[in-house]
Amino acid sequence: MSIFKLKNVKKYFERGGFFLKKDRFLALDLKEMEIGENHSVGLIGESGSGKTTIAKLLMRLIKPDEGIIEYRGKNLNDLTRSELREYRQRCQMIFQDPSAQFNPRMKIYDILREPILINKMALNEEERIAEVLNLVSLPTDIRHRYIHQISGGQRQRISIARALISNPSFIICDEPVSALDISVQSQILNLLYDLKNNLNVNYLMISHDLSVVRFLCDFVYILYNGKIVEQGKTCEIFQEPVHPYTKELMESALLKIDDSKLLGMIDDSHDEMSGLCPYTRCSRYSCCRSTEIREIKITDTHRVFCNV
Ligand SMILES: Nc1ncnc2c1ncn2[C@@H]1O[C@H](COP(=O)(O)OP(=O)(O)OP(=O)(O)O)[C@@H](O)[C@H]1O
Ligand SMILES: [Mg+2]
Repeated sequence: MSIFKLKNVKKYFERGGFFLKKDRFLALDLKEMEIGENHSVGLIGESGSGKTTIAKLLMRLIKPDEGIIEYRGKNLNDLTRSELREYRQRCQMIFQDPSAQFNPRMKIYDILREPILINKMALNEEERIAEVLNLVSLPTDIRHRYIHQISGGQRQRISIARALISNPSFIICDEPVSALDISVQSQILNLLYDLKNNLNVNYLMISHDLSVVRFLCDFVYILYNGKIVEQGKTCEIFQEPVHPYTKELMESALLKIDDSKLLGMIDDSHDEMSGLCPYTRCSRYSCCRSTEIREIKITDTHRVFCNV
């Protein structure tokens, strides 16, 4: 059974305001997306493509305007109280910038204790806190410090420790290393890799860095302007990218160019109608912009959504 299944999910947001006319735009338009049990899934796409919106939907921080999100076969909105408690313990999230998430007036011990209290977990809190600090390779006496008294890498380790407190099976990582120094980035990625192997946690890894996803994920979705353009096993996507956007991403990664800078912000003048191509930069866009996107099956798992 899959952990999450999204079907025909749409999310609209408002833009404009002040001097500009306000309007609603379609930020996310997902036909189908699945996160299987014991799978780590990567979500790649440039700025504004809807990655964090997906994370927020899965964490119930926002609701879809249309469509259904299932958690273990049940509509996420219809979970009973006990199912909701189980979901909250089993699914956690870590953010790009952990300092924004923590109360600066709380000591690290209290930051780590909070989920124990919120989830009313029956366990020895001192022991559990020492245990998770050990899991993320931090000394236990760090618990007496405030969040501003530790380094960026240590802060992200605290954020991971806090997510681990409730013994989750699934963690959404929204750009977990992009705010960190290169040398610290690899330490955190190795830590996430070890936790995946030793604790059997799986991730939804959100990133625009292909190497991060390649390192940690079994399956990948490529997102552009709120739509999936290609999906498949990590090896399939990296060996044989088919969609022009995926190819462009791979080429920019090979050239070691920061793709977010190369590609710039998403052009949101795209056709917002379901079924039409979101990839306005494509060289063939003017020829096939009004044709319905086809689902091309490369293998059982590798799909491309394009007019090619
Ligand atoms: N609360 C909101 N109100 C209005 N627009 C929003 C809101 N949240 C997101 N958006 C818009 O929805 C689109 C998708 O945003 P999202 O944060 O999911 O992108 P992202 O892929 O996570 O980008 P980044 O890589 O920069 O984090 C963007 O155009 C964004 O401006
Ligand atoms: Mg984001």
